[in-house]
Amino acid sequence: MTKQNKNKAKGITNNLTNYGDPGFAAYLRRSFARSMGYSLDSLNRPIVGIASSPSGFNNCHRSMPDLVEAVKRGVLKRGGLPIEFPTISLGEVFLSPTSMMFRNLMSMDVEEMLKAQPMDACVVIGGCDKTVPAQLMGAASANIPTVQLVTGPMMAMPYQGERLGACTDCRRFWGRYRAGEISDTAINEIEGKLATTAGSCAVMGTASTMACITEALGMSLPGSAAIPAVHADRLRMAEACGERAMEMAQSQSPLPEQIITPKSIENAVRVLLAVSGSTNAVVHLAAIAGRRGINLDLDMINRLSEETPVLVNLKPTGEHYMQDLFAAGGLVTVMHELKHLLYLDCMTVTGETLGEWLSDEPEWIDREVVRPFSQPYQDKGGLIALFGSLAPTGAILKRAAADPSLFEKEARAVVFDSLEDLSSRIDDPDLDVEPEDILVLKNAGPKSVVCMPEAGYLPIPKKLATRGVKDMVRISDARMSGTAFGTVVLHVSPDAASGGNLALVQSGDRIRLSVKDKRLDILLSDADLNRRRENIQIHSAPNRGYAKLYHDTVTQAPQGCDFDFLRGQTNEKPE
Ligand code: FES
Repeated sequence: MTKQNKNKAKGITNNLTNYGDPGFAAYLRRSFARSMGYSLDSLNRPIVGIASSPSGFNNCHRSMPDLVEAVKRGVLKRGGLPIEFPTISLGEVFLSPTSMMFRNLMSMDVEEMLKAQPMDACVVIGGCDKTVPAQLMGAASANIPTVQLVTGPMMAMPYQGERLGACTDCRRFWGRYRAGEISDTAINEIEGKLATTAGSCAVMGTASTMACITEALGMSLPGSAAIPAVHADRLRMAEACGERAMEMAQSQSPLPEQIITPKSIENAVRVLLAVSGSTNAVVHLAAIAGRRGINLDLDMINRLSEETPVLVNLKPTGEHYMQDLFAAGGLVTVMHELKHLLYLDCMTVTGETLGEWLSDEPEWIDREVVRPFSQPYQDKGGLIALFGSLAPTGAILKRAAADPSLFEKEARAVVFDSLEDLSSRIDDPDLDVEPEDILVLKNAGPKSVVCMPEAGYLPIPKKLATRGVKDMVRISDARMSGTAFGTVVLHVSPDAASGGNLALVQSGDRIRLSVKDKRLDILLSDADLNRRRENIQIHSAPNRGYAKLYHDTVTQAPQGCDFDFLRGQTNEKPE
């Protein structure tokens, strides 16, 4: 008997509460469920859970109630019982010190609720940066049939002859404001025009990147990544997710373990590179892969980056917005261009292999937005990993969004010990800094008290910004928003707070960056490094609650910053 047959849909009697008497537990559960108005006919059907994450602190999930209703429609159409349940929600700009600290918490919430409640399959609905990775991590560990649905991107809006969309334009205008190029009145007006509809950020930031690589991974339905949040197709997609989840509930397949494999992870990396996606996606993909016991090899990213061109012309690398990718034909068009490089035998939530759902050629592609493989937007992939004495286990650079004139550089370091130090000195007129220097931020990595915020996009010191300096090499153990751009080296690991070599850098040291050689080195001898290491300061750690759990068990960026005890767990339930 196959595993699928053994685990046929069990509906309301799935995962019974343990009273030592299964008959009593089923009777009691049905009784209480009937108090919610369900008929016995409904309770005898397969159940599709809908993990919903609306919150007054999450603008990107504003459309969640409509999506839930549409998913329910799909489940009911196929004869199932849809039951919505909440999980925590992570609104990117509403969480302190950073949403990254809570991604693993949400993943545990999703995993445990998927495993503990009576459902035969699930549709998980997320959108904002950390929610989709958290849901995929949870689903990968719970390993029940799951379809990921994203809320979809916001619309960009016309403004004075151009379009504005969160959040590359947020940073562009803030940089101009800091440089004194626009007034207080103008920046206040722009503030009200950057994010004007429901949905996640409108460019190829982290949310859009995660939507794309989820589709490439096979965990969402084809064509779903780029549909705008406010488009009626988004609701039709939600209904289709409900229908498909119901089919999966009945067949108990495919399971996440059949979909998330080393091959599908590599496909996701290909797509990440071709869309010039967010650096954050490398961390999230490592965490998702880690849940299935798969290591995301940074050398593999470098290999793929050399042979996978950037095909998509979207901000922050290019000019357009997610709604334009949707109008151009969606992510499927990109995957068609990459078809010869993808593993086509990977299983997807459709029940078909990737090759089967890519068998029909797209009827039309807007080549302004999605370039042919033979005429790419950029010749090489958007991301690379760097290694060297400053980053022994790796660092990440989004070269597609960086200034190539800074790619081969040896220069003096100007070092900030912490985010507080950065904010107190970066605009000091007496700061000893020149345009050719390298800015370094320490103690902003996963083990730091600030838990790896998106602070790696260090502002250009005001005294240089007002002189017209737009970009400098910046290095840190922090992350960067996927909507940002610049020559910004991120995720240096081991991070400073765990005693990595980054902790040893001092202002005036020489640092060498070589994109060609994929190296990042501090030009000090081992003896000098060891001498400095003896005087390293250990920062105090949280002593209670979730902050302690986070600090004590978080892994480094190459392991996805997941908790060490969550990686590689299959969590099979005993029969
Ligand atoms: Fe939610 Fe950007 S703030 S995706």
